[in-house]
Amino acid sequence: MAVESLINYLDQSPTAFHAVEEAVKSLAAAGFKALDETLKWSLEADTGYYVIRNGSSLIAFRTGSELKGETAFRIVTAHTDSPSFRLKEGVIVKKNGMLTVGVEVLGGPIFSTWLDRDLGIAGRVLVKDGQGGTETLLYHNDKRKVLIPNPPIHLNRSVNKGFEYNPQTHLSCILQSGSPEEDGTAGNPEEPESLYELIAADLNIDAQRIVDADLILYDTQKAALSGWKGEFLCSGRIDNLAMCHASLEAITDVKGQSAVTVAALFDNEETGSLTPHGADSSFLELVLERIVLAAGGNRESFMQSCASSFIVSADAAHAIHPNFADLYDEGFTPLMNRGPAVKKNAGWNYASTGDTAARYRLLCEKAGVPSQTYINRSDRPTGKTLGPLAAARLGIPAVDVGNPLWSMHSIRETVSLEDHDSMIKSFMAHYKEF
Ligand code: CO
Repeated sequence: MAVESLINYLDQSPTAFHAVEEAVKSLAAAGFKALDETLKWSLEADTGYYVIRNGSSLIAFRTGSELKGETAFRIVTAHTDSPSFRLKEGVIVKKNGMLTVGVEVLGGPIFSTWLDRDLGIAGRVLVKDGQGGTETLLYHNDKRKVLIPNPPIHLNRSVNKGFEYNPQTHLSCILQSGSPEEDGTAGNPEEPESLYELIAADLNIDAQRIVDADLILYDTQKAALSGWKGEFLCSGRIDNLAMCHASLEAITDVKGQSAVTVAALFDNEETGSLTPHGADSSFLELVLERIVLAAGGNRESFMQSCASSFIVSADAAHAIHPNFADLYDEGFTPLMNRGPAVKKNAGWNYASTGDTAARYRLLCEKAGVPSQTYINRSDRPTGKTLGPLAAARLGIPAVDVGNPLWSMHSIRETVSLEDHDSMIKSFMAHYKEF
């Protein structure tokens, strides 16, 4: 059942590293095999493979029923990262008797939604492997809660008129109480000096082994059904783990196609995609070319293959919010439970053209699901997605689509279960298109 596996995917993926690790579990269960970019690839027909960069981006693909140099790629793209706060190393700063860790803003979170929540710390830890190198351990412990409390309204009377939180001074997270430094007494010898000490204890390793880490805050509250009839799903990171999940569901289900099916899940979308493993990198292009080369093709057949391909760039879309309807162009904003939306923008922040939108709408028709449209108010700038980046780099036509979502970039977002099911069906139709 897609709902349970979606809930599990969201709960088990507090960071992009975990999102990739969870993706590997479902790919491996479906018989997909790992490929290493440093080795020569030899591929078999109608077989699933996946490639990982940085532990946080993953491209999964299934070769066509016949291995051919001239092929076509049916691609879905999504992103593994979500807005959050990145911890400033493991350094513990003592403030007013509290042990705190400073944060940097990661992407564009709605700051206020992160205060007074049961936050956790998660990410990857690089530890000495005893042979001069490092190994990666993932860290995620829902039981170790940290917090960013609000000041009382009595001392911040205008908070309900809008308050500007300063991430440097207002948003350090509190780990635990410590000895007050002001009174000159020595600290408790049991008191940790570094967050790495606490994490090392949880991981059951010597703290001295930790060389570095990539750690962020996340919401420990689990995904849950909402609405009187339970038709909505509320969770952190729905943008864009829901689309990662939908693409994984589809690619592990579709077999025996003549085209190569691809699910490309990129990290760093929230911060511009310009990293060696982001959508604005060589990652997808090199993987696609190597699929062609391993099938006996050459650069010419790779270009031919790209020209016969299609990208569905899937990322959350804004659902109209009945209390804030004036923020949207009501005629062009999707409703919850009415199916995937095609996103369009005159400035090409979305990749959809009339041609690619028509192609996707026909796929939806074939899949028996409705489609909607999202166009921003003409007097406001729109968001950006992976679509134009991947499409422009490869010259592959693309459509930007997404499911209607409330509270984009809040610590807790809301989406419709029915739309999730419809999106999976539209991906299946895309993967099965001739
Ligand atoms: Co997104």
